[in-house]
Amino acid sequence: MTHPDNLPHYDREQTYEWNFKNAPADVPRFEIPDFPGDWTYCGLPVNSPLGIAAGPLLNGKWIDYYAALGFDMLTYKTVRTIERNCYDLPNLVPVHVEEMTGSEETVQAVDDLNGSWAVSFGMPSKEPRFWIDDAKRTKAELKDGQLLSVSVVGTMQPEWSLEDLAEDYGECASSAFDANADCVEMNFSCPNVCSNDGQLFQNPQDAAFVAEAVRNRCGTKPLLVKIGYLRDDAALEDLLVRLANSVNAIVTTNSIPSQVMNSKGRILFDGQQRGICGRATRDASIDQVLRCREIIGQQKLSLEVIGVGGIETASDVQRYLDTGANSVQLATAVMIDPLVGVKIREQIGQRML
Ligand SMILES: Cc1cc2nc3c(=O)[nH]c(=O)nc-3n(C[C@H](O)[C@H](O)[C@H](O)COP(=O)(O)O)c2cc1C
Repeated sequence: MTHPDNLPHYDREQTYEWNFKNAPADVPRFEIPDFPGDWTYCGLPVNSPLGIAAGPLLNGKWIDYYAALGFDMLTYKTVRTIERNCYDLPNLVPVHVEEMTGSEETVQAVDDLNGSWAVSFGMPSKEPRFWIDDAKRTKAELKDGQLLSVSVVGTMQPEWSLEDLAEDYGECASSAFDANADCVEMNFSCPNVCSNDGQLFQNPQDAAFVAEAVRNRCGTKPLLVKIGYLRDDAALEDLLVRLANSVNAIVTTNSIPSQVMNSKGRILFDGQQRGICGRATRDASIDQVLRCREIIGQQKLSLEVIGVGGIETASDVQRYLDTGANSVQLATAVMIDPLVGVKIREQIGQRML
């Protein structure tokens, strides 16, 4: 198959709002090669292990677009129970860094994108009335074997207790299920947001409290938790053991946080850390999938593992699956090349010959 260049994709020179409004108008018509095998996501049957992570799919139109390009688990970018604006540009700053280890204090900003970038959106959200209708409409368009997952986050307010935050997460998740989402992914890790709602994964007790509250609110519906990078095995084990009673799957790894320095030695983003996403995080994330699998085996936990971070090719997908991921999600690569899902399927098909 020949791949036409210049398919619509996210324009990082433009604002989030511009990209929101300028979602691709037409759904492309490509022949999508099968992905051999039997696949499930949180126990639900799906056509492949290929999903899109929370991020590239700003609204239903972006979901329609990528659902026609070989992805079967479509994650609606993180939403809230209140409207929230995006951070100012730049939202995506290319960086040069080899494989990250989580110990980097700063990474170097560069002009040209080479697989990795610092991400700075601050989890914007439209008001619930908008995204509930939008998600409902979108879900109705998906084909058999495709799932809509909605990523949700609670929004901590001054004076709020953990109970209040848990209730807000529950309200958001419940609205997502009302919008006919097949699954809800709770974002417990946003390196760009320094408050408790952005970093719950670093406090296993609080994370478990919130997850249990959402489980109580949503009954037996499929729930996933997105976590960040934990270098310490004991901390990862504590988190998984505490979450396992309330959720079906762990999604790892959100990104690896670092400060970002420009060519003049100035630290960007007012000195705050940003999540580094893309190629530079792949090996660390695969290692975290492996460690999750070991913990799940040793502790006999009932948890799926969804691998995310730096996936660009069929070999990357295979590495995640071989390491024990049940399925995978992509973000950076699909924003650079919308045909990456089709290409991965072709590569997988050729390997089977
Ligand atoms: C443009 C962009 C926006 C993102 N927004 C979110 C978000 O709203 N919620 C979330 O959980 N993760 C978000 N992420 C993180 C991705 O879901 C994913 O974990 C990360 O990019 C690693 O995958 P990748 O290496 O394939 O990009 C975002 C990533 C990108 C690139």
